[in-house]
Amino acid sequence: MTEVVYRFTVNGQPVELAVPGMRRLLDALREDLALTGTKEGCGEGECGACSVLVDGAVVDACLVPVCQVDGSDVRTVEGLATGPEALSPLQEAFLETGGAQCGICTPGMLMAARAFLDDGAEPTEDAIREAIAGNLCRCTGYTKIIDAIAMAARPA
Ligand code: FES
Ligand code: FES
Repeated sequence: MTEVVYRFTVNGQPVELAVPGMRRLLDALREDLALTGTKEGCGEGECGACSVLVDGAVVDACLVPVCQVDGSDVRTVEGLATGPEALSPLQEAFLETGGAQCGICTPGMLMAARAFLDDGAEPTEDAIREAIAGNLCRCTGYTKIIDAIAMAARPA
């Protein structure tokens, strides 16, 4: 398959990848860039485990080909922490409420939550539920995740 050089940023760092244009962003992140925080669940755009942000919008990395992110700003769960030993307030809130259990959905939930918080919408329960509607969780019953996002939305 013909390889093309694509240039974009991941968590603020410039990236240059020579890959077939239809390579899944999920595979480029996990296999080419060793960013394994982004998870694969269904591989079909149904579960949200692979959610990342592209130019601030939540996308399923299992459905997006690398050619579509050429020139874009990609954000993954690895970019949330504020330092090697410092989680973001959003991640801390997930820990505090028990919003992360088995953890498979957690990176995608965090990215959907990040986009929601960045939008600055009123963090009502309904709005939070809508923001994470594309992200499935088998463990938590969602309540603890919603609590975590609401907690992170409150001023410190
Ligand atoms: S792995 Fe991408 S939506 Fe499920
Ligand atoms: S914490 Fe297990 S699927 Fe959500």
